[in-house]
Amino acid sequence: FIPPATGGAGGGVTAKDELGNDVSVAKFLENRNAGDRNLVQGLKGDPTYIVVDSKEAIKDYGINAICTHLGCVVPWNVAENKFKCPCHGSQYDETGKVVRGPAPLSLALAHTSVNDDKIVLTPWTETDFRTGDAPWWG
Ligand code: FES
Repeated sequence: FIPPATGGAGGGVTAKDELGNDVSVAKFLENRNAGDRNLVQGLKGDPTYIVVDSKEAIKDYGINAICTHLGCVVPWNVAENKFKCPCHGSQYDETGKVVRGPAPLSLALAHTSVNDDKIVLTPWTETDFRTGDAPWWG
């Protein structure tokens, strides 16, 4: 079951693959497992991780992959269950919360929803659930 988008996708974009095509959620989930994190092009074209919640669903948030230090794209390290920046060693936990500098801030969040087999990303303007702070990226 993939919950439908709740509408009101103001400022939203559909997630694109590396060729610029809309990502099909059904295809995206086909060969993936819970906990996988895979990149799409999200808001402003930023590389954004979609998190696989189960064989049938994605998590309702995406994680912007741009390091808050100097902007490298941060790879997901499955073995260590962390995002580890190859540029200067910053680390982020599985939700993108910064756990080691020099990055000063956690990775930005976006809302994700599914509409007609497409992933829709919308700006995250609420409190950052990882820190309890207002979003720095607003
Ligand atoms: Fe990621 Fe410097 S750009 S640690």
